[in-house]
Amino acid sequence: MDLGSGGGIDVLLSARRVGPSGFAYGVDMTDDMLTLARANAAKAGAVDVEFRKGEIEALPLPDAAVDVVISNCVINLSTDKPAVLAGMHAAIIRAAKPATTARG
Ligand SMILES: C[S@@+](CC[C@H](N)C(=O)[O-])C[C@H]1O[C@@H](n2cnc3c(N)ncnc32)[C@H](O)[C@@H]1O
Repeated sequence: MDLGSGGGIDVLLSARRVGPSGFAYGVDMTDDMLTLARANAAKAGAVDVEFRKGEIEALPLPDAAVDVVISNCVINLSTDKPAVLAGMHAAIIRAAKPATTARG
């Protein structure tokens, strides 16, 4: 799951990584970006992806739904990081070691 999936490129790359037995979700709060991401997925012929509307502070996915959460700088923009982290923790199926990068 990509938090703040924008035009969907990271989701499409993730879908390629997980292969046909996997699935990749994108979450974004803007209709324009969701429309763009869905168009990009259609262009790429990707069927194992889904883009959901929502805020990363209140994820539109059930608990224990994903193995991995990625985000390209969007968490940094949130004014409620504890809510984002709690949602990420709830969304991950198995206990995972958090890993972050500091870029840009
Ligand atoms: C830098 S882009 C993400 C790029 C994306 N990973 C990609 O592959 O193109 C940031 C996106 O985060 C979304 N965003 C920012 N704050 C958000 C929030 N609180 N909840 C959901 N989406 C958010 C914006 O709408 C924007 O589309």
